Amino acid sequence: MSYIITIDGPTGSGKSTVSRLLAQRLNYRYLDTGAMYRAVGFAILRAGVDLHNKEEITKICNGLDIKFIHEGDSTKIYLGNEDVTKAIREPVIDLIASNVSALDTVRKVMTTLQRRIGSQGPLVVEGRDMGTVVFPDAQHKFYIDASLEVRVNRRFQERQKRGEFISREKVKEDLIKRDSQDMSRHLSPLRPATDAKIIDTTKLSLDQVVEKIMKDMKMNKE
Ligand code: DC
Repeated sequence: MSYIITIDGPTGSGKSTVSRLLAQRLNYRYLDTGAMYRAVGFAILRAGVDLHNKEEITKICNGLDIKFIHEGDSTKIYLGNEDVTKAIREPVIDLIASNVSALDTVRKVMTTLQRRIGSQGPLVVEGRDMGTVVFPDAQHKFYIDASLEVRVNRRFQERQKRGEFISREKVKEDLIKRDSQDMSRHLSPLRPATDAKIIDTTKLSLDQVVEKIMKDMKMNKE
């Protein structure tokens, strides 16, 4: 098996930035599995399929050609020949991605794809079930979290930077709803793997979190 580092955690925990920085430091590939569920949500929304129509959702999911194209420090995500990098970050996709991610057929297709990417060489992979389900034998597992207030602030600032007009209260409401959905679903719920190192990022800069992870990996080198 390739060398895999898993980083799981809730919305706004800082896991995307930390994973990207870590992959750069180690010169590993980086995979954002949330982007994959977002791409599925986007395709389903565009096809106008009802979220209860499992059969049609499975069909769409099986036919999706999801590609990651790395350009310098940024990664673009494509569906076939279409660049959907920006579209999958639209707020409307947040909850749809969470909804479709609870379906067993969708998870099965995504898990297979994620493992295939994982088999192709060293990887930093982030998501909700990387350490628990997709890569249970990963060499290093981390679960990063932060207080609700800090997570809401990070998400709020992110969305303001993108020029969205949204209240902090609405960001908080959406974040609580999505996390509760991701944590309480029957399949692969968000939770730390029993052998994951839990890092609270509330009072740390994201660079400090990367340092902490690097130190921990050095200490637990196999
Ligand atoms: O990381 P994100 O917020 O972009 O993820 C979007 C949704 O995808 C999230 O609400 C839950 C789902 N997801 C998942 O179920 N499993 C993963 N490994 C990654 C994301």
